[in-house]
Amino acid sequence: MGVLILNCGEVAHMGSGDTTQPLVGAEMLDRESNIFPAGHGIMIQDSKFHIFGDSESLQSEFAPWWDGSEQISGDLAVVDAKGKAIIPGLVDSHTHLLWGGDRSSEMRLRQAGMTYRQIAEAGGGIAKTVLSTRSMSLSDLCRIGITRANQAVLTGTTVIEAKSGYGLETEAELRLLEAMKAIDDSSIVKLLPTWLGAHDFPYGRQRSEYLEELVNSQLPAVAEQGIAKWVDVFCEEGWYTNDETEYIVRASTEHGIPSRLHVDEFEDSGGLALAAELGSVSGDHAAKSSVESRQAASDNGTMQTFLPGTPYVLGKPLDSPLNQCIENNWAFSLATDYNPNCRILSMPFIGNLATTRMGLDPFAALVAATRNPSTTLDDPSINGTIVESGRADLNILWSQSVDGWCQTPGENPIVKTIIGGSIVNLDR
Ligand code: NIG
Ligand code: FE
Repeated sequence: MGVLILNCGEVAHMGSGDTTQPLVGAEMLDRESNIFPAGHGIMIQDSKFHIFGDSESLQSEFAPWWDGSEQISGDLAVVDAKGKAIIPGLVDSHTHLLWGGDRSSEMRLRQAGMTYRQIAEAGGGIAKTVLSTRSMSLSDLCRIGITRANQAVLTGTTVIEAKSGYGLETEAELRLLEAMKAIDDSSIVKLLPTWLGAHDFPYGRQRSEYLEELVNSQLPAVAEQGIAKWVDVFCEEGWYTNDETEYIVRASTEHGIPSRLHVDEFEDSGGLALAAELGSVSGDHAAKSSVESRQAASDNGTMQTFLPGTPYVLGKPLDSPLNQCIENNWAFSLATDYNPNCRILSMPFIGNLATTRMGLDPFAALVAATRNPSTTLDDPSINGTIVESGRADLNILWSQSVDGWCQTPGENPIVKTIIGGSIVNLDR
């Protein structure tokens, strides 16, 4: 089935230059090179973007029978965008999608002054979620994952990176990764799995013993089954040291598994610098990283992925240096960090935090939510852009301006989503 979209408003195609590379610096503000003005049409065929052109010409060529209503004839569906803006499918490059249980009671602990680390030391945090996740079956995990993935699709996400990390033992970690594969196979969204066995140290185990289990048992099993695209480590004071992180990442590299890492969330431990040195595709959180680390990341092609939802729910300042990244031509992305503590699946809400709280230009925020994260995903079918021959993922907004993608924090800015050339039809 082909899809012909007529009467487009602005189209943020994001297609300037080499689309396998992120946009940086002034490029992130260059609307002229990355937005088609209103009046275009888009023809989708074989799940891919096929032709862009003047709306009226495309209509007379492909759908002369069109009478102005939303309509299917033969193998062509016509969608009237009614002058509304179009953006690429949103790419959420950092989530903890699969887990069970409930951590709502931690809010009162935070209000009483306890930090994330103190709550973890008191038996809350990741350890608590591990207990409730280990008891879930594969089908429990798939069911909850599909529900959450569909929820993300409703606000325009078409690609999701998802991490394990709430099993912390070989069998439970493998089950989480297996569930991700099943969800990817059976749902409309593209799900890309990351092994995060080093999310924490499991309760009651010797540190050194678990480290050896990670490298000598979990990693070989993950590699043998080919069910993770990346390895991740929670590299942070109080969790994994830089040496432990390096040990796990180097072992993974030997198995051909590249890394994306949690770094410098609460303090600067040199995690982003280490990610750069190890050639990680991304250093995530990077909230407290030094200027030198950020420059090293940029020099080594390591994306800085900012996760403003996490400081937001923890009641911390939203002060990651997004505009400093633009000034210095440092590549950066935005993602949700969806997890039991940060129940945000909406990329538009993250864009809202970045623009209203961190002063980022709304178009630059869109670049950081589409093309830039897609360049870390090593999948030629995903490019976070609307360009010829690319996989046909897009969103039609409520607004005529592409900036409308992130300006409705309590309402859904998306009116229609297309994934791989299929019009998404989920109950709202
Ligand atoms: O990225 N900081 C480490 N991991 C998650 C939180 C996990 C949790 O609290 O369950 C994060 O914020
Ligand atoms: Fe995270």
